[in-house]
Amino acid sequence: MGIDTSVSFTGIRFENPFLLASAPPTESENNIMRAFDAGWGGVVTKTIGMHPVVNVAGPKTKFLRNNPEAGTLSMNKGRGGVLHSSWNWELISDKPLDDWIPRIERIKQAHPGKVLIASIMAGSGSDRELDHWRTLARACQDAGADGLELNLSCPHMDRPDMGSNIGKDQELCSFVVQVVRQAVHIPLWAKLTPATSDIVVEAGAVFRGGADAVSSSNTWPSLPLIDPDTLEFELNVDGYTSSGGLGGPAILPLSMAKMAQMARAFPDKAFSGIGGVSEFAHALNYFLLGCGTVQICTAAMLDQAIGPHVIARLVEGLRAFLERHADRGWTSVESFRGLRRDNVIQQSQIRRPDHSEYQGGFDAEGYADRDS
Ligand SMILES: Cc1cc2nc3c(=O)[nH]c(=O)nc-3n(C[C@H](O)[C@H](O)[C@H](O)COP(=O)(O)O)c2cc1C
Repeated sequence: MGIDTSVSFTGIRFENPFLLASAPPTESENNIMRAFDAGWGGVVTKTIGMHPVVNVAGPKTKFLRNNPEAGTLSMNKGRGGVLHSSWNWELISDKPLDDWIPRIERIKQAHPGKVLIASIMAGSGSDRELDHWRTLARACQDAGADGLELNLSCPHMDRPDMGSNIGKDQELCSFVVQVVRQAVHIPLWAKLTPATSDIVVEAGAVFRGGADAVSSSNTWPSLPLIDPDTLEFELNVDGYTSSGGLGGPAILPLSMAKMAQMARAFPDKAFSGIGGVSEFAHALNYFLLGCGTVQICTAAMLDQAIGPHVIARLVEGLRAFLERHADRGWTSVESFRGLRRDNVIQQSQIRRPDHSEYQGGFDAEGYADRDS
């Protein structure tokens, strides 16, 4: 039987399950066109909103690298070492809706077989704000977007009725999804924040509100490190910094834990995995936990802005994986999706050694041995 890299996710067909996440790689028409030419199955646009946005004075994103030889973990000590994470305090798109609409139309006309999900965000504190959600949703749908991703997760919004402050409140996020659900007919994905104590609560809320899928994770709230020489935050404006978002390799295990919680609680629901993916082996984690698509940001930013090499490796990796496992009947992502979801269980259910084998402490693993 032939292998098939395509997937059907929330009723949308993707030629492959890999999307550029909502972020700088998808902030312009030119980038999105290049991304489709490079082979991405879909894109989620940079988040579109109704409010004028002004970013901080200075860099919005930096990349933290670990260089054991130099003894540094830093954003500012060159490109030596390996990538640890991205850190950003970038706001949503600074282009207004009116700019985006003709661009979405042109992109869809040029690439009707590729998937464009429009990411949108508004507030939730008044009827006017809720109308913003409706306006954004209808305009993107009418322009040809295949689906919408509701950004309930931007980690650096001061407003209490916006971004991750919606995503932390189960009633608000359910309500916002409901409002958009009533306004449009295309599939709705809700992008949740990982900065909550039990993400299963918010996932349940957005599904109750009518979401077709949950996307997770957005970046994790975090600070830039302090330079030990200057005693300044490595990213600051006039000496001041603020909570921003961590992405890239450092968050893969963290995002997996959130995804596992949700996938176990809602095994029949659709999930789009995000966080720390640059190779197929990384994406495989999300598929095995039950995700139907995977989104990528940091790795693409570092590869010619839209990740031509990243997508080539992801698709090639998926193909090679399917060919390697063809004898098991795994011909598509659907054949192995969710295979390890039920292997994540409670700590107390993990097998303990026989009493006779048990040594206690760390002795058995050598951590207590000072010379090792
Ligand atoms: C500079 C930057 C800007 C981002 N902007 C948005 C955004 O506008 N909307 C959104 O939903 N997520 C945004 N994100 C989050 C990414 O879509 C993604 O969830 C996160 O970076 C984790 O994926 P990664 O580990 O592949 O980077 C942004 C991330 C970065 C690094």
